[in-house]
Amino acid sequence: MQTTYIMIKPDGVQRGLVGDIIGRFERKGLQLVAMKAVVPDQATARAHYAVHAERPFFEGLISFVTSGPVICMAWQGVDAIAVARRLIGSTNGREAAPGTIRGDFGMDMGYNMIHGSDAEESAASELALWFPEGTMAWTQDAQRWVYE
Ligand code: RTP
Ligand code: MG
Repeated sequence: MQTTYIMIKPDGVQRGLVGDIIGRFERKGLQLVAMKAVVPDQATARAHYAVHAERPFFEGLISFVTSGPVICMAWQGVDAIAVARRLIGSTNGREAAPGTIRGDFGMDMGYNMIHGSDAEESAASELALWFPEGTMAWTQDAQRWVYE
């Protein structure tokens, strides 16, 4: 079992894609273990994207992600990190496969609607950063129909 940090970015919220995006994770069979809406502060956004601090797009990325509400979520499942990345699709929406979130809704590298952790270490640090209060341990009855 893994838990991954998923965040609908301001463009996804502004475009009214929250329900569709969350529905894809639900229908896949992942289990929702935390969710909240926040307007990210500078410190949290900079910590989240610290790995990109030296990249030329960094300041633009920070002002974008702090520009309005985002939906922060934690989703749990077997191989949840890689499963979520496949649902999300590749970074540039123009190249992302149809059927993925970015492939279905996106046309741009910067406005790609959603973030998903890319490894166990980043998932752990992102979950700690965005959910210092922790996630919910709960039993979803339907999970017994998700895994054989
Ligand atoms: P994310 O972290 O948001 O899930 O996206 P990702 O792994 O697919 O892409 P990553 O390489 O981690 O880049 C993080 C975000 O920075 C923006 N970006 N802009 N202009 C550019 O060349 C460029 N490259 C990356 C994107 O919004 C990307 O999601
Ligand atoms: Mg990334």
